[in-house]
Amino acid sequence: MIDNDWQLIDLVTGYQPAAAITTAHRLGVFSVLGRLPRSAGDMAAELAVDATNLGALLEALVGIGLLRREGDRFAATPYAAERLGPDGEMGLVVAKEAVFAGAWSRLDEVVTEGRPVMEPWRSQLDRNPEQARALLDALDVLARIGGPPLHELGELAPGKRVLDVGGGLGSYARPLSEAGSHVTLVDYPLVTGWASEELEGTGVEVVGVDLFEHPSCGVPPGSMEAALVSHLIHDLAEDQAVELLRRVRSAIAPGGHVVVNDFAGDSGPGAFGALFDVMMRVETGGAAHSRKALESMLAGAGFERIRRLPYDDPLTIYIGVRP
Ligand SMILES: C[S@@+](CC[C@H](N)C(=O)[O-])C[C@H]1O[C@@H](n2cnc3c(N)ncnc32)[C@H](O)[C@@H]1O
Repeated sequence: MIDNDWQLIDLVTGYQPAAAITTAHRLGVFSVLGRLPRSAGDMAAELAVDATNLGALLEALVGIGLLRREGDRFAATPYAAERLGPDGEMGLVVAKEAVFAGAWSRLDEVVTEGRPVMEPWRSQLDRNPEQARALLDALDVLARIGGPPLHELGELAPGKRVLDVGGGLGSYARPLSEAGSHVTLVDYPLVTGWASEELEGTGVEVVGVDLFEHPSCGVPPGSMEAALVSHLIHDLAEDQAVELLRRVRSAIAPGGHVVVNDFAGDSGPGAFGALFDVMMRVETGGAAHSRKALESMLAGAGFERIRRLPYDDPLTIYIGVRP
């Protein structure tokens, strides 16, 4: 609970470190600054920016803990050099958050008008494929650093025919396939084009289809022993999610399993839980559904024996059986 002015001031100035980091990343600071110290003037010349204000930004990044200063020169910390430097995958996550920060600046519209401010994902794919690809790359990083080890679930591997519904670039399809399952990843055609390049040689099959335009998610009815629906339900309003889960159920043979991997609106600290729910309303018009809602959506789509698996918050993983 917030009970003093300084806690509140800390919260309302939270945009400042976020903007400092995303701006430094966008300007290329972490790309040109390795562990060897450089002066602000030297870097400003390379980046074609104002030396004085770059110096101020670098100083702020020292305070944040991503750079260190030696005299009047700056160097990346070991963490920043490794994770934000030219080969560092966290740059993708930083860039993703910069896109979302722009959308959050229009939160008043979201709340006033009751709709998201970001374009629907399908038109983002059409109109800005480069940004859409970058968002999927960032999700792939996040799945690798924080996703649950779903390939360890007996219902999904080894040796199962698994449908990865809205599988993106294959963050979960790859380990499931490596664990010995026969995985079919279904997503929009542009995304499956990217996924098939990423997954070359893994044995994962891809099917490019709009999930809402095929009664059993692009595969023959009853052809799968299990389906994974990871981070897709939260993109959808409740009625759409039930409709999707019905199509997923059609793809699964009787006795097979559905696994839903998501973040619930009522579990999880920080950027998860309630704030993640707001994020979905800004971004997609979906919601971080409550655990109760997830259970009732699965039941509404015809799944039985629904239970939450014992992962710690914010990981929210449900399993159900197709009767
Ligand atoms: C948030 S990403 C999740 C990716 C991956 N499953 C994961 O857990 O990281 C949602 C994915 O679902 C796909 N998707 C959303 N709606 C879809 C639809 N109607 N048809 C096909 N794919 C869809 C998106 O293209 C995207 O790849």
